[in-house]
Amino acid sequence: MKKEFIDLGRQPIANRFLNEDELENEFFYNLKMGLDEETLLVSQMETVEASDMFNENYVYHSSGTETMRNHFDSTAERLNLLFSPDRVLEIGSNDGVFIKHFNKDATVAVEPCSNFAKITNEMGYQTYDEFWNYDTSDKILKEHGKQDLIYAANCMCHIHDIEQAFLSVENLLSDNGVFVFEDPSLMSAYLRNSYDQFYDEHVHLFTVTALNNIFKKTNLEICGVDQINHIHGGTNRVFVKLKNNSKITKDEENINTILADEELLDLDKMAAYEYWAENIQNSKMFLHDMMSALKNKDLKLISYGATSKSTTIFNYCNIGTDLIDYIVDTTPAKQGKLSPGMHIPVVSYEKGWTEDVRGAFLGAWNYSDFITEKEKAFLDRGGFFITHVPEVDIITKPTCVPCGANKDTQE
Ligand code: TYD
Repeated sequence: MKKEFIDLGRQPIANRFLNEDELENEFFYNLKMGLDEETLLVSQMETVEASDMFNENYVYHSSGTETMRNHFDSTAERLNLLFSPDRVLEIGSNDGVFIKHFNKDATVAVEPCSNFAKITNEMGYQTYDEFWNYDTSDKILKEHGKQDLIYAANCMCHIHDIEQAFLSVENLLSDNGVFVFEDPSLMSAYLRNSYDQFYDEHVHLFTVTALNNIFKKTNLEICGVDQINHIHGGTNRVFVKLKNNSKITKDEENINTILADEELLDLDKMAAYEYWAENIQNSKMFLHDMMSALKNKDLKLISYGATSKSTTIFNYCNIGTDLIDYIVDTTPAKQGKLSPGMHIPVVSYEKGWTEDVRGAFLGAWNYSDFITEKEKAFLDRGGFFITHVPEVDIITKPTCVPCGANKDTQE
């Protein structure tokens, strides 16, 4: 049975940026998260239909930032070196940023957002414009046979019936093959209080503990986990093999260390999630109060990065155009539109990143090191960033201790 631990209120589709004429029919649902007492999986209590989230209007493209392009380049290189796969399948191939590193004749893809499936089909990679399930897996099995590398980035956590999704992988994985999937880490979200990882697409947030429990119901097992701190605010890359595959060694020490860390944090107990819920409620209060106080000083506040994550924050914390003038974002498909739910205008960086901006909420906080480095001139002229991760705070120009003071203390 699933037990609710946080109610984040009425929420829209996080990635659906709207035109004026779409406001009237905007879709909302109630975002509540719960813990399954049997598997210890954290999931939404009420889910949104997959076709309402992933369709021909989907705007998130995986190659949208240099960080993600580099990430997929190095991941493809590493997986090629480690496994030299003959046949490759990517589930959720988006704009092809990962599969472009593999041989077109030996690679297939699955992508339910037809705007993206069209792109990769045109690139020459056969792409099934479908959701990942047993039928799709069976169809690929008949047409292409078993696959040596099955890869999915930020996709498995989107699938409602996760056990069926894993069984569909098992159906298609070659005897010596490997299934590699990456998704935001629940442990990272918990430690950073980045509760904005909860939004419609993230039907589940995985701990390794929960994944282990779910794989027990299949013939698959985890053989290693990479913890990647700088991707999507903390990502786990999970390596999975068939239980009777002896060609790939299981890294027991690596897996047990992560399981022990999760246990240490009590992520297998409801009490930890109730404690998290209190932190989330406090964070909401502090953020709203701080932004209101800054706005009362007549400062121009905007948001930096029109992210899905910030949709949760703005709607849960009730932050609208009364506090934020607009959002700047480099993605052309989001520009000229209104943010989901709170309807804050999204403008291009060139148009919105002007000298009169005093404070910018870090919607893309997962790029905070990159952004604060890039925007040194903004900090130098007295600008500041507002963040809620790991706690509500403002980030100003770094100050350093004068050399003279250092000298005194050394003597
Ligand atoms: P992302 O971090 O993938 O967020 P989510 O998964 O929550 O949607 O998206 C980052 C967004 O921020 C993307 O729309 C691009 C934008 N962005 C900028 O506008 N400027 C920047 O310098 C960076 C790093 C990102």
